[in-house]
Amino acid sequence: MKPNILITGATSGIGAALAARYAGRAELLLAGRMPELEAMPILPANAHYVVADQSAPEVAASNIMAALDLLGWESLDLAVLNAGSGWSGDPASEPAGSIRNTLEANLVAAIALAYGLSPLLSGGRLVLIGSTARRGAPLFASYAAAKAGLDGLARSLAEEWRGRTKVQVIHPGPVRTDIHAKAGFDPGRARRFFTSPETMARLLERALASRRSRRTISFPRYLAAAVTPWLR
Ligand SMILES: NC(=O)c1ccc[n+]([C@@H]2O[C@H](COP(=O)([O-])OP(=O)(O)OC[C@H]3O[C@@H](n4cnc5c(N)ncnc54)[C@H](OP(=O)(O)O)[C@@H]3O)[C@@H](O)[C@H]2O)c1
Repeated sequence: MKPNILITGATSGIGAALAARYAGRAELLLAGRMPELEAMPILPANAHYVVADQSAPEVAASNIMAALDLLGWESLDLAVLNAGSGWSGDPASEPAGSIRNTLEANLVAAIALAYGLSPLLSGGRLVLIGSTARRGAPLFASYAAAKAGLDGLARSLAEEWRGRTKVQVIHPGPVRTDIHAKAGFDPGRARRFFTSPETMARLLERALASRRSRRTISFPRYLAAAVTPWLR
């Protein structure tokens, strides 16, 4: 039987690449903020889709729970909470609405969803996508704060749910997606050194299969992947 997998933020970048990797091997429920008609051409055939704008965390969580209910899924083998966005600039000039949105979409929504999914994840795996920015990223201060929060959430749930649900947090380094442009940040020529979303998805899948609760997948790891065929 195919595993049941939920991936949020599956309409672009890392989430889309991960969904493409699992397509055909898993039953997929993919979540995004764009309307279904816009999302369908992006999604793998046969994947299910639910609109869940994490700017409204409780609504997003309840939309996803309702979609799972509609599908009749009583359990989830894997939930990858990947949706995320940020605002870039001088921290002191970030508008209050943006600060709130960054924390709600990246952190509060993940907490609400993780708690909601808890009963379905018995025997399964919850994966939070953090960021190396959690250690501090000056032009992305509120985003970095949200990602640091995800790290704390994962550590707490890993203890709380030990023996019942495997909880992992994975912190990618820079990946060549649209997230930077959406945040108003231009990485310039550095962008060409960023990991591709497909490579990151490949490394993520490997990390998901491991027993380690916290993983950083960053640039040196990418270089290793480029020269190490067994990582493919
Ligand atoms: N790219 C990097 O350098 C990098 C590094 C470390 C960690 N990450 C993390 O990796 C994850 C995926 O990012 P990415 O690089 O693949 O960026 P991306 O291409 O922009 O994809 C982000 C996904 O999240 C969705 N999303 C954004 N805001 C949302 C909201 N309010 N409600 C629901 N969905 C929302 C996006 O929807 P739309 O398609 O509608 O925009 C998209 O599907 C994020 O958590 C990000 O923080 C990225």
